[in-house]
Amino acid sequence: MSAMPSLPVLGEQNFRQLQQLMQDASGIHLSSNKRSLVAGRLLKRLRHFDLDSYDDYLNRLTHPQYARERRLVVDLLTTNETYFFREFAHFEFLGQWLKGRGGPLRLWSAACSSGEEPYSLAMTAAEHTRGNEWSILASDLSLSMLSLAEQGIYDIAQARYFPDGWLHRHCLCGVEDMEGRMRVQGWLRAKVQLREINVVQPLPESIGQFDVIFLRNLLIYFDSEQKQRIVRNLSEKLRPGGLLFIGHAESIHGFNLPLRPVRPSVFERL
Ligand SMILES: C[S@@+](CC[C@H](N)C(=O)[O-])C[C@H]1O[C@@H](n2cnc3c(N)ncnc32)[C@H](O)[C@@H]1O
Repeated sequence: MSAMPSLPVLGEQNFRQLQQLMQDASGIHLSSNKRSLVAGRLLKRLRHFDLDSYDDYLNRLTHPQYARERRLVVDLLTTNETYFFREFAHFEFLGQWLKGRGGPLRLWSAACSSGEEPYSLAMTAAEHTRGNEWSILASDLSLSMLSLAEQGIYDIAQARYFPDGWLHRHCLCGVEDMEGRMRVQGWLRAKVQLREINVVQPLPESIGQFDVIFLRNLLIYFDSEQKQRIVRNLSEKLRPGGLLFIGHAESIHGFNLPLRPVRPSVFERL
């Protein structure tokens, strides 16, 4: 009987190189307890290049022609989990708030992942803006996530989080080979502009001012200093009276920012 081939081991030095790569590209610090998770996520890339060691793989990554592969590593090592109407109370509150706000309204989903968050915002705006003009910017660091967002096609099981009637008002349900899938209506997708933005870097001047910014379930990956810098930079893009939403598990308590809390994880720009 032949012995099972042993799995390559991700050594300390190679893990540190990956920590650095992630830090430079996304600002995210990979803690040392993530070593086996990182090894597991990158194993398929070793297989793809038919390599036996992480060392060989990391050597490749240092070459300029492997820029796309470096981006893929960042994609594989970031958490993209998201779903429609995540933290539903935010959308309920936003819907009521939008009714009382004059237009035209600009909303920004600043870590939009595969698009469920900006399309939840789009549906909420469509239902509650009472004829005001509105538009949405959806941005993320990950090009593969942005490309999924652009398609706007999802498993129909995700509609279980939709308010009653919204599935048929805002999505097309697939038939035949698209059975079990849904697609956000074309006119709603057209309201969402997708853009690659790294929130750790200076924000593009051209993005302008917003009435609402969703920055949810990203801050959790940064240290306190970076968190404060990111929130300060984004707050500057909010109009006075505009709202910033962060994840319920996140905190900006104790930071000196031009924001006042209006409810848990929702802040108003002063
Ligand atoms: C856990 S998802 C959150 C998605 C959504 N906001 C939600 O709450 O459901 C985090 C997203 O942040 C993105 N991300 C990570 N670092 C980033 C950075 N420096 N700038 C912008 N986006 C980043 C990841 O690609 C990922 O899609």
